[in-house]
Formats: sequence, C-alpha cells, structure tokens
Amino acid sequence: MGQTVFAGKKIVIGVCGSIAAFKVAGWVSELAKEEAMVSVVMTASATEFVTPLTFAALSGNNVHTGMFGTGKEDVMTHISIGRDADVILIAPATANVIARLANGMADDLLTTTILATRAQVLVCPAMNSRMYAHPATRRNLQTLKDLGYGIIDPESGMMACKEEGDGRLAEWDTVKEHLAKSITPQALQGHKVLVTAGPTREPLDPARFLSNRSSGKMGYALARSAFRRGAEVILVSGPTALPCPPGVTRVNVQTAEEMYEAVLTHAGACSVIVKAAAVADYRPEELHEHKVKKENIDVNLLLAKNPDILLELGKRKKTGQLLIGFAAESRNLAEEGLKKLRKKNLDLIAVNDIGGDNTGFEGESNQVLLVSSSGTEILPHTSKLHTADLLWERITSLLMQSPQKA
Ligand code: PMT
Repeated sequence: MGQTVFAGKKIVIGVCGSIAAFKVAGWVSELAKEEAMVSVVMTASATEFVTPLTFAALSGNNVHTGMFGTGKEDVMTHISIGRDADVILIAPATANVIARLANGMADDLLTTTILATRAQVLVCPAMNSRMYAHPATRRNLQTLKDLGYGIIDPESGMMACKEEGDGRLAEWDTVKEHLAKSITPQALQGHKVLVTAGPTREPLDPARFLSNRSSGKMGYALARSAFRRGAEVILVSGPTALPCPPGVTRVNVQTAEEMYEAVLTHAGACSVIVKAAAVADYRPEELHEHKVKKENIDVNLLLAKNPDILLELGKRKKTGQLLIGFAAESRNLAEEGLKKLRKKNLDLIAVNDIGGDNTGFEGESNQVLLVSSSGTEILPHTSKLHTADLLWERITSLLMQSPQKA
C-alpha cells in the first residue's frame, strides 16, 4: 500500500525512567512495522520500568544502555548512534533528563549521544503535573526550545500517579506526525494552504438531508501530508468520522453554502487551495422546520442550485496562488478533467474514477489522473496518504515555477 515516510529512516529513541516507557514500546513496534530502522538508547532508570530485551525484540536491533559497551567497537557508541540518525526522539523525557540536556551535561550514553548528534532532537516530556509546572522544569524546557529542540507537549489527563493534570505523555498519533515532519523536506515551509474534505449535507427537514459517499479520507490525507511538509494547514471539512490530523486547523461545516463562506473567508491568505470535498451541487429548495410526514412528502422534490465554490475561487485566483480541484468521474476521465480545468481556471485537477475498484469514495486507496495545461500523468494505485504525498510533490514544483505574489 505504497511506501511510508519512515521506510529506511534511522530513528533513535531515547527512553528515560518513567512508567510511560511502556507506551514507547508500542511506538517502537509501530515504527518497525513501517520499516524504520529503530535504535533504542535507555537510561539506567528506564531499565527499571521496561527491560532492554523488550525494546530489542520490538525494534529488531540491539539496545544501548551503558556508557561503554563490552567490545572495542562499542567505545564510540555515543558518537556512531547520533551520527547516522535521521531524527532522535526522547520519550518519555523525565524532568531529570530535561534538566541535564538544558545544561549540556553528558554523563550517560543518552545525553552524550544527544550532544554529539547533528540530527533534530524531539522531546516528549512525561511527569507528574506538579513537576511539569515547577519553574525549574519550565525554565529548562524553554532553554531546550531556545537550543532548537522540538518539544512535543504532554497531554492533560489521568496519570499513573492517580492525579489529573498536565504531564501525560503525548499520544502516538501526534508524535508520529512530528516525527514524520522532522524527516520530510519542508518544501511548504512558510506557506498557508487550504484543503477541503468530506461531503456536504443539504437538509430537507430536521431528520433528512441529501449527501454523498465521501468519507473525507482523501482530503484529510492531503491535510496531513501538507503539515508534514511544513505548511500551515486550514482544513474545511464537511461531516466525517475522522479525527482532525495533528497540527491542522479544522473548520467544520455542514452545507455547501457554509463551506462556500468558510472557504472564501480563508482562501485569500492561502498560496495553495486543494478542493477534495464532495460538494453537493443542489439542495432541497424548501427547508422544513418540522419533520415532514411521510404522506406529505412531495416525491417530485424541488431542488435549488448550490454555489460552485471552485468556480468562484477560479474567478478570484490571485497571482502566485495555486488552485487544485478534484473530479469524481466514472468515464472519460481525461476529457472531463480538462473541461473542469479550463472552465474553473485551475492549475491542476486530480480526476479519480468513482466507479473503479477501490478508488474514489470511502476506500483506503485511490488512483488519480492528474490533468494540467502541460498534459496528463496517471499516479499509481496506492494509499490515499501516498497519493497525497505524490500530489504535494507536484504542487510544490508548480509553486516553484509560479510567479510569487506581487
Ligand atoms: O472523501 P473520500 O471518501 O476519501 O473520497 C474522495 C473523493 C472521491 C471525494 C475525492 O477524491 C474527490 O473526488 N473529490 C471531489 C468530489 C467532487 O465533488 O467532484 P466533482 O467532479 O463533483 O466536483 C469537481 C470539483 O468542484 C471538486 O474539486 C469539488 O470540490 C468542486 N465543487 C463541486 C461542486 C460545488 N458546488 N462546489 C465545488 O467547489
């Protein structure tokens, strides 16, 4: 299902002495499944919570614990581990290791490895909420930020010490996105992008509406992929069952008219707009305040036309702004795509076959035909996230060609 961003990447995970270390074992397992090359470095106190054998089994690699190994090749472990890393993640990061890193100490394998690396270092604090709130801890975390460390803030909630509050280790879905971002070229750094996703719902009465089969997966994958590339992402979303991708700002809408308002509010500030939402072209002409009794339903339902958001965006497109549409077709994909590209003043359109086998609506994968004024390109049938990655790569090269805003 398409190559993942972690495949072949060297990820070092520094584990410190906190009960949250058991959660990080699951993270190591996830990364190994995505074909990352994971090396685990454990502090002495970490081994009190989870055995090195556990991390060795999950990562498929030796675990480093002592400052100096047994064999001659181990003498420079602290140099070699950090030198080859694509990224280093310290999780859970205790108040103690945060304090030692803030002061540039190098008195064990983990802190020495950190001082010796050029890779980006991400830190996931996890501790009792009073320790997390202590001025010394706040000062040390600020020092790490000033030194260029990435801090992934802890969550609030119930902790192992049976207390509620800030200090709970961040969730894997959040950490995973920051890890992915740290190993992805930040081609969209400094760009604000707008993505639309999901269906719209056009109400008939309090109980009934017109809608379509869009799950939002394609649009959410585009938003997730754009965040990983360094963009500031606004996701205007119809009703879906999906959580908002970490780092993305979501604006929830129901109807096409609400989506129209939300999109036009944000579009002017965005350098790229990608319209993956399945916007209803029509709505019931009359919206009933009360549920229409079945015997009173007029089977010849009168419909009113919704605004064509993409067409309006095409009219308002600014110099240097890129407008990308999607097209849900079941035949003549290239011709239909080219028609929409021209009619709506698009820079690129992704045409997907909604009648295809596991493409288009609802599924985990897609296959899109890209149509632009310079020709067409068929992308592989792959996951929607990989499709999104490939689409952003092409959008990024268009961005580099497009005249910058005046
Ligand atoms: O959400 P998933 O389940 O993952 O499914 C993904 C998808 C199939 C919904 C997606 O890949 C897709 O094809 N989205 C566009 C669906 C659609 O509305 O296609 P269309 O050919 O009807 O519209 C063409 C373009 O005009 C789209 O960019 C659409 O956002 C836009 N549009 C359409 C109608 C309207 N009133 N305003 C619009 O802006």
